[in-house]
Amino acid sequence: MEMGIVGWSSLVIMLTVFCPSSLALTLDGLALLEIKSTFNDTKNVLGNWQEFDETHCAWTGISCHSGDEQRVRSINLPYMQLGGIISPSIGKLSRLQRLALHQNSLHGTIPNELTNCTELRALYLRGNFFQGGIPSNIGNLSYLNILDLSSNTLKGAIPSSIGRLSHLQILNLSTNFFSGEIPDIGVLSTFDKSSFNGNLDLCGRQVQKPCRTSLGFPVVLPHAESDEAAVPAKRSSHYMKGVLIGAMATMGLALVMILSFLWTRLLSKKERAAKRYTEVKKQVDPGASTKLITFHGDLPYTSSEIIEKLESLDEEHIIGSGGYGTVYRMVMNDCGTFAVKRIDRSCEGSDQVFERELEILGSIKHINLVNMRGYCRLPSSRLLIYDYLALGSLDDLLHENTQQRRLLNWSDRLKIALGSARGLAYLHHECSPEIVHRDIKSSNILLDENMEPHISDFGLGKLLVDEEAHVTTVVAGTFGYLAPEYLQSGRATEKSDVYSFGVLLLELVTGKRPTDPSFVKRGLNVVGWVNTLLRDNRLEDVVDKRCSDADAGTLEVILELAERCTDGNADDRPSMNQVLQLLEQEVMSPCPSEFYESHSDH
Ligand SMILES: Nc1ncnc2c1ncn2[C@@H]1O[C@H](COP(=O)(O)OP(=O)(O)O)[C@@H](O)[C@H]1O
Ligand SMILES: *[C@@H]1O[C@H](CO)[C@@H](O)[C@H](O)[C@H]1NC(C)=O
Ligand SMILES: *[C@@H]1O[C@H](CO)[C@@H](O)[C@H](O)[C@H]1NC(C)=O
Ligand SMILES: *[C@@H]1O[C@H](CO)[C@@H](O)[C@H](O)[C@H]1NC(C)=O
Ligand SMILES: *[C@@H]1O[C@H](CO)[C@@H](O)[C@H](O)[C@H]1NC(C)=O
Ligand SMILES: [Mg+2]
Repeated sequence: MEMGIVGWSSLVIMLTVFCPSSLALTLDGLALLEIKSTFNDTKNVLGNWQEFDETHCAWTGISCHSGDEQRVRSINLPYMQLGGIISPSIGKLSRLQRLALHQNSLHGTIPNELTNCTELRALYLRGNFFQGGIPSNIGNLSYLNILDLSSNTLKGAIPSSIGRLSHLQILNLSTNFFSGEIPDIGVLSTFDKSSFNGNLDLCGRQVQKPCRTSLGFPVVLPHAESDEAAVPAKRSSHYMKGVLIGAMATMGLALVMILSFLWTRLLSKKERAAKRYTEVKKQVDPGASTKLITFHGDLPYTSSEIIEKLESLDEEHIIGSGGYGTVYRMVMNDCGTFAVKRIDRSCEGSDQVFERELEILGSIKHINLVNMRGYCRLPSSRLLIYDYLALGSLDDLLHENTQQRRLLNWSDRLKIALGSARGLAYLHHECSPEIVHRDIKSSNILLDENMEPHISDFGLGKLLVDEEAHVTTVVAGTFGYLAPEYLQSGRATEKSDVYSFGVLLLELVTGKRPTDPSFVKRGLNVVGWVNTLLRDNRLEDVVDKRCSDADAGTLEVILELAERCTDGNADDRPSMNQVLQLLEQEVMSPCPSEFYESHSDH
């Protein structure tokens, strides 16, 4: 044991002597370790926050500003079952913009030092056991957009300095023990009862409860509650949390059982699907062979019916064209509709290899992926048969919107973001071998009649290489989606897909193409443009004017995610599973009612 310690420390000394200091953590990294030391991390989610790491920017829950200084930009650790307190060292992270520690079991006070983080935009401490009051100089946080302290055991008066927070869009102090008069000044005058619910001793105009009788006597006595008096109430909130945690644990267990059941079902289904793969050969004329392969045998037509339809496709059936060729709409005699893609590109390797690869792509099934039904080789062309998606591509809906088409509101866009994340996470993390899409962009997000998004063209980029065409597609509209390292090396990875997904999120928020002329003129793409506007706190200029139903909470989450996904450094981008987890936690659950309420208001 002792030997080990001696060995380690001499190693450390050697490292410090022989290596430049760039290998050691910066002051922000050290501050994070101090913060970790006062957390009670029973689930070991902070296991990779290690003293001897070169950088803290890849630690769980941490993202940094771009640049060499590695300043911490956000701490995202909601729902992590963290106990303990927030260390005053938080004040050292002076460039912190987002602190999300909601739904943990933290206690102690909100440290006054937090007001040293003057760039803070979003503070989520909801659903913990924080005690004491709100730091009185919270009004120093002049960029603060979102302040959610609901469901804690905070008490005392509401500091009037909150009124100075002119950017504040969401204030939630509900379900605490605040007392006294709510100052009716500045931005504090703009919030109503819903921001202060469940604080029995609060009074003021916002909660429609006068603080004084007409004779001038106080209705609510100045706060004189002793700590003993507060205990039972606190207990009951602990008890409620116990019940809730119990219920959630049971539900979690049930979910695990259902998932493992589905998993085994899925496996046997995949095996069966592989067996059902059928191949039909039809000799048309000697020499040139026509070949139809249907995947899963789920095209309920005879091969001659299909081939006849395919042969009859011509210009009037064209619905689009892109980098790989022309897309047709094919309507069968029973009105079953399909999309047929005629491939002009040559493919790498032999027909056999190509067909085996296609077979793999055809076996991939997910609600958020476009289903490939079959492949046909005609004497003159090669055709891929897909499900037809009635609402067409996101690109058309966002950018080519003619009057008859419906506008995409904010909740549609959230649904599209979430579904696309699910589809892409499936390709990256559930398929084996994993599939890098290579061409995530809005024209490859197709929508069905329920606005459910389906990702198309996955895996094709690898299958259909064309030295010349590659360059032209890049110019033809994919350019703005490509990660810097992909542009440089031409090597696509999961992290370059994540970058493209981040650009897609920005496209959903801004309603602009990634290479809109208005910012290309200033030498920027959408990533640079949004970052420039956000730096000046011009949120209202970022958001598409067509989504008036955008709420500040989900907007903040999407922008935060987009910013992390489009990080210039691929290693600092989250994985699609992490992206999906955040979206599911923050956009859909845990309070679906909250999500839907915010939309039914409009
Ligand atoms: N399965 C489909 N259902 C409906 N429309 C489709 C389908 N596949 C493609 N399209 C339409 O055809 C267009 C061209 O598709 P594609 O050849 O993949 O090129 P790109 O993705 O570069 O636009 C798409 O933008 C879309 O509008
Ligand atoms: C950490 O939490 C666990 C379980 O919640 C508890 O048993 C333990 O005493 C806590 N440790 C500290 C140091 O607070
Ligand atoms: C507050 O931030 C400054 C940098 O802006 C830093 O030098 C100082 O140590 C911080 N104070 C505390 C109490 O963390
Ligand atoms: C923050 O607030 C404190 C106390 O209200 C004040 O002394 C200090 O100057 C403020 N700092 C800034 C940067 O506004
Ligand atoms: C405030 O928070 C509570 C509980 O966390 C939630 O039920 C309520 O909907 C929130 N109110 C607003 C206006 O966001
Ligand atoms: Mg496409």
